[in-house]
Amino acid sequence: MQVIEKKKELIALIKNLKKEGKTIGLVPTMGALHEGHISLVTRSVNENDLTIVSVFVNPTQFNNPRDLETYPRDLNKDVELLTSAKCDYVFAPSIEDMYPEPDTRKFDFGYIDTVMEGANRPGHFNGVGQIVSRLFELIPADKAYFGMKDFQQVAVINKLVELIHSSVEVVKCPIIREVDGLAKSSRNMLLTEEYRKNAPHIYATLTKAFKFAKEKSVQDVKDWVINEINSNPLLKVEYFEIVDDTELTPVTNWNKHKGIVGCITVQAGNVRLIDNITFK
Ligand code: PAJ
Repeated sequence: MQVIEKKKELIALIKNLKKEGKTIGLVPTMGALHEGHISLVTRSVNENDLTIVSVFVNPTQFNNPRDLETYPRDLNKDVELLTSAKCDYVFAPSIEDMYPEPDTRKFDFGYIDTVMEGANRPGHFNGVGQIVSRLFELIPADKAYFGMKDFQQVAVINKLVELIHSSVEVVKCPIIREVDGLAKSSRNMLLTEEYRKNAPHIYATLTKAFKFAKEKSVQDVKDWVINEINSNPLLKVEYFEIVDDTELTPVTNWNKHKGIVGCITVQAGNVRLIDNITFK
């Protein structure tokens, strides 16, 4: 596996790969990799001739400077994990190389950027659009892999592909969890032991909500989830929304939508934990 740190090097490499007619899978990440990320890499390795993983903590998607500062970074460990996963290239550029000038582009993602993560982290998805569009322009991937853990992000990426007329196929991958149910996340390592012990309450509540959905109204399930998680003194629900799985519009009746998902973000001390459950 080769580590590439410069855009220029990557552009030269891509030119050769494309001449050889190789199919390329791209997995964008911010590093501090875990089995969730690796599941995307493995899928890409299985489905493409070559896999490129980008490792870049993108400053423009952080609306909170402390979050950017404390975001975990460990490129050596990432390289080890990616070598074992049979990844071909890691692209790990510097901020200066990726953004030689400030990116002032504003993407109009419409309604999907006004709710949930969009409402609670202003500018976050615009930053995701900036970095992912740059990666898509640099790397003419056939397929790009994204995890369903960041459910709303997948909707934003699909919209981005439309806006920038990219031909890349967006592949959605299932959520990988710890044995106790907590969705794997780079941020989990920032949890103190006590918060870590209590964090599985989030998914445990979501799975119970899935069962309740068979007999209770949408509003009742929503209220129950929020109360149940907030009853744990270490957890505070930022939002829990039950939405249509493509439009992300609020659902009021279980029968009126083809696909329904419950999206949640919980504050565990200083750490934001994000998760979701498919109801339908
Ligand atoms: P990051 O949080 O590093 O995640 C990279 C990819 O891994 C995302 O598509 C995310 O949904 C997926 N992922 C993370 N944890 C997962 C889990 N437990 N199961 C399945 N997939 C999981 O998301 C980002 O980075 C950034 O916003 C990025 C798209 C790279 C743009 O900077």
